[in-house]
Amino acid sequence: MKKASAAPKKLRVAIIGTGNISRCHIAAFQYMPEVEIVAGCDIKPERLAWFKQQPGCQNASTYEDYSKMLKAEKFDIVDVCTPNGVHAPAAIAALKAGCHVMVEKPMAMNPEECQAMNDAAKKAKKLLACGFQIRYTPVVQMCKRAVNEGLLGDILYVKVHAMRRRGVPNWGVFGRKDLQGGGPMIDIGVHQIESAHYAMGEPKPVAATGRTWTFLGNKPSNVVSVWPNWDYKTYTVEDLCVGQVRFENGTLMQIESAFCSHLEKDTAYWEIMGTKGGFSTLDGTLYHDMAGTMVNSQAGFLPPHPSPADFVSKLRDFTTAILTGSPLTSSGLEGMAVQKIIDGLYRSADKGGKEVAIL
Ligand SMILES: NC(=O)c1ccc[n+]([C@@H]2O[C@H](COP(=O)([O-])OP(=O)(O)OC[C@H]3O[C@@H](n4cnc5c(N)ncnc54)[C@H](O)[C@@H]3O)[C@@H](O)[C@H]2O)c1
Repeated sequence: MKKASAAPKKLRVAIIGTGNISRCHIAAFQYMPEVEIVAGCDIKPERLAWFKQQPGCQNASTYEDYSKMLKAEKFDIVDVCTPNGVHAPAAIAALKAGCHVMVEKPMAMNPEECQAMNDAAKKAKKLLACGFQIRYTPVVQMCKRAVNEGLLGDILYVKVHAMRRRGVPNWGVFGRKDLQGGGPMIDIGVHQIESAHYAMGEPKPVAATGRTWTFLGNKPSNVVSVWPNWDYKTYTVEDLCVGQVRFENGTLMQIESAFCSHLEKDTAYWEIMGTKGGFSTLDGTLYHDMAGTMVNSQAGFLPPHPSPADFVSKLRDFTTAILTGSPLTSSGLEGMAVQKIIDGLYRSADKGGKEVAIL
């Protein structure tokens, strides 16, 4: 009788930081038979208690110190979901322990940390992926394909929006510059920058100008808003950041990002303008000329977006690369390029808006 072949070995996953966003990762892993969550680590015992109740985590071990966790067990994947300031040390420790690493966005606090992470991945011969899920959304994929098919021509100008009227996170440490590296630009601007940069073909940024303002987040507020009672006393980041980035190929990107701004409504999208056509991710419209007419083309069908499937896409891109050797769509090198853009905007703001070089 033919022997039944053994079930393929699952990739063993440990999560560092079992807070808010780990919920999306845990949910996505449930759709991925190639992985099993075997451990979770958080400095807060109550978050570990929550983690143990999540689907697929009941049998996982728990730790309050990631160094101890990495010594105690072997993992294939470490998934870093901590505040930004812990991304680099946790990722580097995991790479040194021989694990592939997925790190949530933004990659780190600054480009120097990104470089150290990429160096550690190279030395360990392990994969380092950045948790950018917006690039996998159907609308961004549509734009990327339009760019690749030449429908936009040469890209001239990109306008990026990540604006909240009043949306200072009232959990975590999002108002702490020392633990996050910055405010809305590094936290929500990063999503729109990375997906636009991806669709543009990842050109090299060479210079930036930026300004930042803090005028509401560091004060008590009795205004009704979606996340009231944030910790204004420890708030040291910007409320609003606006800037421009020049790329080596001459393309210009204009960016605005806010936790607080007096405007009609929240926005999170970008518009891209080329010599032959344009595209807006607001509603997935391609602007072009056809039949002697200016035409606005929209998809006849797009899957709903954003959706939990975006997290499956980003994690599956990573596991597929581990299992098959396929290239990562969102590697540490791309994470570092995005980080250099954000760092350039902040460095320029520190100089009162003077243009700074991005190396
Ligand atoms: N991809 C997305 O759409 C998205 C959305 C939200 C947040 N994020 C990113 O995810 C990260 C976490 O954000 P969040 O909203 O989950 O914050 P959070 O504060 O809810 O969760 C972070 C968790 O990390 C834990 N932690 C802190 N230091 C630690 C350490 N040294 N070791 C282990 N655990 C530690 C905290 O106790 C907390 O439970 C941030 O980098 C953020 O930018 C990404």
